Amino acid sequence: MPIVNRFADLLPEITAWRRDIHSQPELLFDVHRTAGLVAGKLREFGVDEVVEGIGKTGVVGLIKGKNSETQQVIGLRADMDALPILEATGLPHASLTDGKMHACGHDGHTAMLLGAAKYLCETRNFSGDVAVIFQPAEEGGGGGREMVNDGMMERFGIDQVFGMHNMPGVPVGKFTIRSGPFMAATDLFMIEISGVGGHAAMPHNCVDPTIAAAQITLALQTLVSRNVDPLENAVVSVTSFHTDSSAFNVIPQQVHLKGTVRTLSPDIRDQIEKRMAEVVEHTALAMGTTAVFDYQRNYPVTVNAAEQTRQAANIARSVVGEHQVDDDALPLMGGEDFSFMLNARPGAFIFLGNGDTANLHHPEYDFNDEAIPYGCSYWVQLVEQLMPASAPS
Ligand code: NI
Repeated sequence: MPIVNRFADLLPEITAWRRDIHSQPELLFDVHRTAGLVAGKLREFGVDEVVEGIGKTGVVGLIKGKNSETQQVIGLRADMDALPILEATGLPHASLTDGKMHACGHDGHTAMLLGAAKYLCETRNFSGDVAVIFQPAEEGGGGGREMVNDGMMERFGIDQVFGMHNMPGVPVGKFTIRSGPFMAATDLFMIEISGVGGHAAMPHNCVDPTIAAAQITLALQTLVSRNVDPLENAVVSVTSFHTDSSAFNVIPQQVHLKGTVRTLSPDIRDQIEKRMAEVVEHTALAMGTTAVFDYQRNYPVTVNAAEQTRQAANIARSVVGEHQVDDDALPLMGGEDFSFMLNARPGAFIFLGNGDTANLHHPEYDFNDEAIPYGCSYWVQLVEQLMPASAPS
């Protein structure tokens, strides 16, 4: 079964929604216009129950199938938020707000799930129920966590959850997925190093925190190279190095470091956090300075369940063909807050090819509308094949 024909008819309409959302990007939980548009469309399609304000500004629509009494509920999730980036595409549908941009394709994800919801309302060719989940604040705000904490899974009786994200560099019409850890935990750290500032010509009268900060930055690079098992994966990146001196001739009092840690297993995550605290404390001490270390656990590892991943890959194959699905894709060290939903319920996260476009989070990125029929077809096939209308209840 290739692409669902109905999506060829719906493509201009779904593309128009996508470009409209693209032109009016909103950040984090402040997605009021987008959430309002989504809720309005869902009601217009005849979605049985539309609930707004889940996880602050999330929207969930419940679509009942032919044999709703089978009690199975599948959750399909899209994200709605944009990024604080100045768009440089020059496209007719480019952002109308300088400094805000749909640079991760969440406009496309939202439009594709709306398209799938419209089709599922028209056809109802499935048993059980479908929960279409539109979440805010994927880009750092933990909107997925908020929706889970708000009781979304229990309220709608969701048994399994599926997510989809576009991927530049993967051809349109191709899907990639893997079982197990697929995207990394994304932790943050901040280090404040204090010394004694003073005249740069008299360093012996000072305790220079820049030297300590430099030693710490380099020492942190030994965590992955010397402590983590070489067959495991981890990233430690110091991304900000800021002193409180702006003069040529003043040794600062303090240096602030910031950065991120990416890991694919809970053990490695624990190991790095522990070693990092030791290295920071003792290196600072060796340099005569003091350090305050703050480590914050952000998004957990995105872990695809084996059974749902196998089903998702097979269903994607039924849409695009055997050789257009890579079910052994390499994990990514980027993070995804769909991980909170996958921690709550079994499911799978899949990538959909966006073709030869600029990368995610790049000012020239744009979601590829040619991918819409593939994404929509995958969503509805997932529902119709996992909960067939003719299945005995
Ligand atoms: Ni994204």
